[in-house]
Amino acid sequence: MMDFKNPLAEATARLRDARRVLVLTGAGISAESGVPTFRGAGGYWRDHRAEDLASPEGFARDPKLVWEWYTERRRTLNGVKPNPGHHALAALERAVPASLLATQNVDGLHQAAGSEKMVTLHGDIWTTRCLDCGDERTEPGRLHEELPPRCEGCGGALRPAVVWFGEMLPTEPLERIERFISERDPVDVVLVVGTSGVFGHIQRWALAPRERGAIVIEINPEPSALSELVDIQLQGAAGEILPRLIER
Ligand code: OAD
Repeated sequence: MMDFKNPLAEATARLRDARRVLVLTGAGISAESGVPTFRGAGGYWRDHRAEDLASPEGFARDPKLVWEWYTERRRTLNGVKPNPGHHALAALERAVPASLLATQNVDGLHQAAGSEKMVTLHGDIWTTRCLDCGDERTEPGRLHEELPPRCEGCGGALRPAVVWFGEMLPTEPLERIERFISERDPVDVVLVVGTSGVFGHIQRWALAPRERGAIVIEINPEPSALSELVDIQLQGAAGEILPRLIER
């Protein structure tokens, strides 16, 4: 980590001059909207087992349990709104058109705040996929009454069209990130917001642009797997720091 007298001022200046920005977000960006995170205090993985609720094996064993969890999460999302952190990132995209936001979240809050130049790595909690006919439907706000739900077309079993543990990330977003990082014009700033950074690919995307001069800024109230590796660590809540960082 670099030692700046005023890390927030340094980060703000670097971002003000940036022409290409890569933003990586995780559950922490939505915490202030009232969406629980996975790890850490109050996180889902505190009293739920990831392999039961978010893996193909868990779903095969007990689809009703998995759907109950997703329905509880959908219900929570029906009552929340994007917070100043999401709005600040949407404003950043308008100020720096050559930017890309990659989120691990499935909650749709970046889109609700107006982010468009973005990819979702783990899918969308409002999308279902039929295991029999493959039909995919996105129905924001939908709460299925009967769990597990069945496909309205063929009667097959529906699953949430999200990426679970042990599954591959979708290729299209992956390739878009790789292309964004390797374009001739280098990325100037990487912003890593609200992620524990446990996945290798997140660490790689955060750090690779540095080889061509990017500065890596992390916003997180707690130390993450990336904190020791970034250039500037802004310790605090995304909803407070991002609006100050992105002041234009
Ligand atoms: P985690 O729950 O692992 O991490 C959330 C991070 O957000 C932690 O580092 C917190 O310190 C931080 N945080 C909490 N409140 C914050 C705030 N107000 N502002 C900024 N940061 C805050 O979430 P992810 O890193 O997104 O995947 O987890 C990655 C993936 O693992 C998830 O997409 C999910 C999970 O298991 C699957 O379900 C496949």
